[in-house]
Amino acid sequence: MNSDGSLRSTQPPATRRSIILFPLPFQGHINPMLQLANILHTHGDFHIIIIHTQFNSPNPSKYPQFTFQSIKDGNTEYQYNITTLTDDPIYIFNYLNENCVDTFKDCVAGLIQQEPVACMITDAAFFFTQAVADELKLPRLVLRPSSVLCAVVYCNLTLFYEKGYFNCTNKDPFYDAPLPEYPIIKGKDISKISTKPLGHKDFANKMFEYMKQSSGIIWNTFKELEQPELETISHNFPIPHFTLGPFHKYFSGSSSSLIDEDRTIMSWLDTQPPKSTIYVSFGSVACITESEFQQVANVLENIGLPFLWVVRPGLVTGSKWLESLPETWLERVGEKGRIVKWCCQKEVLAHRATGCFWTHNGWNSTMESICEGVPMVCSPCSYDQPLNARYVSDVWKIGVLLEDGFEKEGIEKAIKKVMVDKEGDEIRERINALKEKLNLSLKEGGSSHKSLKNLVDYISSF
Ligand code: UDX
Repeated sequence: MNSDGSLRSTQPPATRRSIILFPLPFQGHINPMLQLANILHTHGDFHIIIIHTQFNSPNPSKYPQFTFQSIKDGNTEYQYNITTLTDDPIYIFNYLNENCVDTFKDCVAGLIQQEPVACMITDAAFFFTQAVADELKLPRLVLRPSSVLCAVVYCNLTLFYEKGYFNCTNKDPFYDAPLPEYPIIKGKDISKISTKPLGHKDFANKMFEYMKQSSGIIWNTFKELEQPELETISHNFPIPHFTLGPFHKYFSGSSSSLIDEDRTIMSWLDTQPPKSTIYVSFGSVACITESEFQQVANVLENIGLPFLWVVRPGLVTGSKWLESLPETWLERVGEKGRIVKWCCQKEVLAHRATGCFWTHNGWNSTMESICEGVPMVCSPCSYDQPLNARYVSDVWKIGVLLEDGFEKEGIEKAIKKVMVDKEGDEIRERINALKEKLNLSLKEGGSSHKSLKNLVDYISSF
């Protein structure tokens, strides 16, 4: 045990090399980083050291095979918590980038004196780590846990900002039309990315500038899904790119959930007919308004299909949990539906009863849905989500995007389209075909399998 309470495992064997991983402390970033750690530990036989902030610290006892090092993140004057975080993640990203510099550098410097470290792999949003890597002469690889398509679109954020797309409204001609610079995307998709576009664009530009200086980028995607976007990003960022996703398919490892998973739900799901149930979740950071929440409740009550709804404490702006539900809603719904605070999402998506996923299209959720061949109804909130959702709906055609937000008729139509209508069968066929491609990519000789081998060889060459 270290003086600050973090765990230290025994020294690795002398011949075994170590990799330092540093996840951004948010659920959608911790999950893929710990999955990647497991992959490199199992397939590369590297010793894994996870450096983590005190804020949203992962649980080391779930990963006895790794060494965990906690660093101070400067968060002494106030306590922020993932379940009450309703504010501005970009502010927290910047805060961590400023406040972790010294503690991270000291920690890495100490480690490289003790054992042979091959490289560090840090979340792309921790852009400050590039300067640390350069100073300590340690290669830095980047994990970008979002889509490649998002990175390609984000390369144009300054232009989009200057053109006024962030502030566009339905009165602007480009609001609901393909953008001349990127015709897959509409103005309204860009307008949803952030309510604070200047800060968002500046942060993204800085993150990409330092990604370009890294020794390579690891993506949680597979080549067949984003081939054109991969070609573009490889051209824009001429460094090695590794697409070995989806990470969670390599093993059924332990969960890195920051919130306790309600597992009782699985026995309720077991009692539902095949492909009958709507699974609803908007991820770990997105927030919705009280009236949007009530709209979801009304639709789920009226649609006549079983549902499982994840209402994370803090999901509804200004509410602790379920206070905004319409009166007697729970009694009226009865056994037809369940609300939980958090669940084992991957298992729910893999369950035979799950028929569609009403999602915010965070990248992990999108990939997990493709993995299980579950069609999506898309309610993107912000960041990369509107872009992922546009591809799900218009490019891959494996879901329906709620173009008018939380509008009752539109939602009911979309759910019926994927669950009941003939069009739903076609959507299901397309997502199952993608799932097949994904499974092939993970097999010996497949694109993700090869990319993992390339990554292991690359790290071993340092
Ligand atoms: C955030 C951003 O919202 C997202 O757009 C970006 O791509 C990554 O960071 P988040 O909102 O958490 O992510 O969404 P998502 O990327 O989908 O990750 C959520 C993770 O939590 C998934 O791995 C999902 O399986 C897990 N989850 C979600 C649970 O385990 N249980 C739940 O009840 C809900």
